[in-house]
Amino acid sequence: MSPLAPLLLSALLAVSPIAQAVSLDSIVQSYGLTTASFNFTEPDETLNSADASSWILKEWTINAKRVDWGQSNIVFSPDPSTSTSTLVRRQESSTSTSKSKHSSHSSTASTSGASSTASATSVSYPASTNLAGEPPVLRIEYPKGSYSKKTGGTQFYSSPLNATGASVAAAAGNATTDGQYERMLLSYDVWFPVGYGWNQGGKLPGLRGGPDARGCSGGNETDGKSCFSTRLMWRSGGAGEVYAYIPTSQKGFCSQSQVTCNSDYGTSLARGSFSFVTGQWQTIQLLVVLNEVGTANGIVELWYNGVPALTFQNLVLRTSDSLASVGGLFFSTFFGGDDDSWASPTDQFVYYRNFQLFAGAGASNLTGAKAESGALRGVVAGGWSVLGGAFMGLVGIVVGMGLL
Ligand SMILES: *[C@@H]1O[C@H](CO)[C@@H](O)[C@H](O)[C@H]1NC(C)=O
Ligand SMILES: *[C@@H]1O[C@H](CO)[C@@H](O)[C@H](O)[C@H]1NC(C)=O
Ligand SMILES: *[C@@H]1O[C@H](CO)[C@@H](O)[C@H](O)[C@H]1NC(C)=O
Ligand SMILES: *[C@@H]1O[C@H](CO)[C@@H](O)[C@H](O)[C@H]1NC(C)=O
Ligand SMILES: *[C@@H]1O[C@H](CO)[C@@H](O)[C@H](O)[C@H]1NC(C)=O
Repeated sequence: MSPLAPLLLSALLAVSPIAQAVSLDSIVQSYGLTTASFNFTEPDETLNSADASSWILKEWTINAKRVDWGQSNIVFSPDPSTSTSTLVRRQESSTSTSKSKHSSHSSTASTSGASSTASATSVSYPASTNLAGEPPVLRIEYPKGSYSKKTGGTQFYSSPLNATGASVAAAAGNATTDGQYERMLLSYDVWFPVGYGWNQGGKLPGLRGGPDARGCSGGNETDGKSCFSTRLMWRSGGAGEVYAYIPTSQKGFCSQSQVTCNSDYGTSLARGSFSFVTGQWQTIQLLVVLNEVGTANGIVELWYNGVPALTFQNLVLRTSDSLASVGGLFFSTFFGGDDDSWASPTDQFVYYRNFQLFAGAGASNLTGAKAESGALRGVVAGGWSVLGGAFMGLVGIVVGMGLL
């Protein structure tokens, strides 16, 4: 190989959009997501399931003031990245009455206000309270055999950011707005333990919006007017995708190579465009910008550890202004899938931390085809062709250098 080859390659990698991670702040700035933001805070001590539920109801402003289901699968436990807490797995006993109040927490604000009386029927306790100086993180349990049907994981909806017409409209510049947050970014970290059994797949938190806070999941398709949802999914071996409940009627949409439409359920966007790994924190950033009604210019983008992983810029996410805004965090996670071939193979956990929302006003202002016009026929969404082209170019050059 030419002695220049490594230099050429590193120069290429430095300019390649594939290799370049971007900062959260640069995403927030470049998409006009500066109007409002919300941090989902963690307590400074571990909390059992009863106290953890109280915490998120209060501090995470859960809609309808209730967790949809899976309350007993939620705890705040030690960060799995600290050596002392890698042993945190399923607790020995499900009837322990000792509260997890003995943590070595630092002298930051007391969280005693969030602690309710723990009942002996709370089933999940962190196995360790040694925080090793790190704040606790949210741990969700997926019992062996659980899949969909509210049998494992959890689900709740939090929309802590509410637009107030006039001030929002002023921030929209020349993008069209109904005085709502038509654009929102969700950022969070996720950790799958080493040895995690992926099986066929499962749901992970994402965004949702629209006046119907209960549709657009569980097989209830969108009508384009009342809701949409864009959760994430892991698939076999940790393959990642965005799993969207959005209209599929746009001509040519389902025949795009990166789109998998299912007759009863959601639509898979760019399955396998990134992969979850085990034993480390991974950062997800998910952007949704609603399309202008009548134009196929809606945006769904995802960054994996800051690197662009999937980009769709010509989506129809809504067909009516009655779906006026992105609402917020759709924390929906479970194995499945609608039959037991999707079940969690063992009692296992996934850890989550640092949820943040950033919102801005204004629907997409990209030039887009007329909705329903069929202009998407055979066209892979914009960002894909760009990334794909850059990648193929890189491969070509690497292959070329190998021949030198
Ligand atoms: C969220 O936390 C970050 C620090 O991580 C801070 O800079 C920011 O001001 C916080 N935002 C809100 C709305 O509290
Ligand atoms: C926004 O509205 C939701 C209900 O839709 C409510 O739970 C939340 O507290 C509100 N947030 C603010 C900041 O007003
Ligand atoms: C929108 O505003 C930007 C500057 O903020 C300007 O460059 C652009 O031409 C405007 N577009 C339209 C269609 O008005
Ligand atoms: C799905 O729709 C049915 C019938 O409208 C309703 O009973 C059910 O609650 C909906 N499920 C969800 C998850 O929205
Ligand atoms: C779209 O909006 C951005 C700001 O969010 C602006 O920089 C850009 O010029 C706008 N494009 C058009 C075509 O108006």
